Amino acid sequence: MASTPITIDTINPKVLECEYAVRGEIVILAQKIQEELKNNPNSHPFDEILYCNIGNPQSLSQQPITFFREVLALCDHPAILGKSETRVLFSGDSIKRASQILDQIPGRATGAYSHSQGIKGLRDTIAAGIEARDGFPVDPNDLFLTDGASPAVHMMMQLLIRSKKDGILCPIPQYPLYSASIALHGGTLVPYYLDEAAGWGMEVSELQKQLESAKSKGIIVRALVVINPGNPTGQVLAEKNQKEIVDFCKREGLVLLADEVYQENVYVPDKQFHSFKEVARSMGYGDKDIALVSFQSVSKGYYGECGKRGGYMEITGFSPEIREQIYKLASVNLCSNISGQILASLVMNPPKVGDESYDSYFAEKNAILSSLARRAQKLEDAFNGLEGVSCNRAEGAMYLFPRIVLPNKALEAAKEAKTAPDAFYARRLLNATGIVVVPGSGFGQVDGTWHIRCTILPQEDRISAIITRLTKFHTEFMDEFRG
Ligand SMILES: Cc1ncc(COP(=O)(O)O)c(C=O)c1O
Repeated sequence: MASTPITIDTINPKVLECEYAVRGEIVILAQKIQEELKNNPNSHPFDEILYCNIGNPQSLSQQPITFFREVLALCDHPAILGKSETRVLFSGDSIKRASQILDQIPGRATGAYSHSQGIKGLRDTIAAGIEARDGFPVDPNDLFLTDGASPAVHMMMQLLIRSKKDGILCPIPQYPLYSASIALHGGTLVPYYLDEAAGWGMEVSELQKQLESAKSKGIIVRALVVINPGNPTGQVLAEKNQKEIVDFCKREGLVLLADEVYQENVYVPDKQFHSFKEVARSMGYGDKDIALVSFQSVSKGYYGECGKRGGYMEITGFSPEIREQIYKLASVNLCSNISGQILASLVMNPPKVGDESYDSYFAEKNAILSSLARRAQKLEDAFNGLEGVSCNRAEGAMYLFPRIVLPNKALEAAKEAKTAPDAFYARRLLNATGIVVVPGSGFGQVDGTWHIRCTILPQEDRISAIITRLTKFHTEFMDEFRG
């Protein structure tokens, strides 16, 4: 082959350093097996791949919310708005909402670039939605609409990280967007460990210890990432704990990066979602006390519109000069996609009691969330019934993160195969059952402990089959490797 002008040794080393496990090695193998099954259905001891590796609800047959899709369709094809057939096919309030939204879009053109922060009218709607959620005022100029939460996280990392000496406190285990983004922007991930024995609790003493340790190494810690509800760990923070975290950030002068994309995914009656903004404001802290960024997305919740790429960040406690710089960063990408912007406004302002679509909207939402809660419980019970496996409660989000105590012989076999023990387990699970999970090593974990992350997203009628296959595999695996 002719020599290429760039080689793996000459590309940006930060790209090489960056890893993204949820689409990593196991998933690549799964895709290969899927192809083999297509060509020869008898090539493996199962007939389909069950993707439990990623929080992508609609890829596992979750249906979108009808009202949201009606409004989106009408916004994208306004020519049918006034037609009599449309009034038969679409609900009256979706027609009304689409007309209102189009009136807010300059030229009623969903195919045009918008303001770099997002269409002003949609930001007004989102601001009102956050106000209704939290009970505190929101300035629409604090909102930046983005293509999902991921670009917003990248933007903040780009803003905060100047060099390897800048550190970002991140939970371990963490969602790998954070480690990847910090690596890409050349910063240092400062880990703080969630306490598995305390239901993945977050201790301020641990934050303080890790902060001091980073400082002693010359790291300037700039921000704290909190994922609530947690991914991959599924815990929902208690309000008291959130207050301690807010005080810690205020005291230490850290930007609080609050990943709140799972705010609608809470499954237990004793926990409730509270945004960090609500918590900080209820403590009497305003813009001058704490710099806070809240990330939200249309990808999760009961809506699960991952492919539509919508989301926003609300930034508070930043000076006008800094906001100008963030605006400049947003402008480099021109704007986020308009369907995602519209969806973000719908998610933050869904039908209300008395609206024509309310009953069907509520029934769809409730069916999805209550089913997710049942699936979480079933899988949690199944994991806890396996030898050597312990699994914390899935209070929220879309995942379980069970710990697996692997027999020594399995650890040795993994070493021999030059792979992490949990990746060894995940690979064997895939090869035997077609179930795809992500090894815990992709999220970080306490040294010497091993986990897998499994989504609760397969449809309810598949959960029993997954549990049966998983249980059979695990029993055979332990029989093979038990000392
Ligand atoms: C905790 C968390 N934050 C952010 C994201 C990014 O999602 P998106 O870019 O689709 O909004 C995800 C996706 O799984 C996530 O789990």
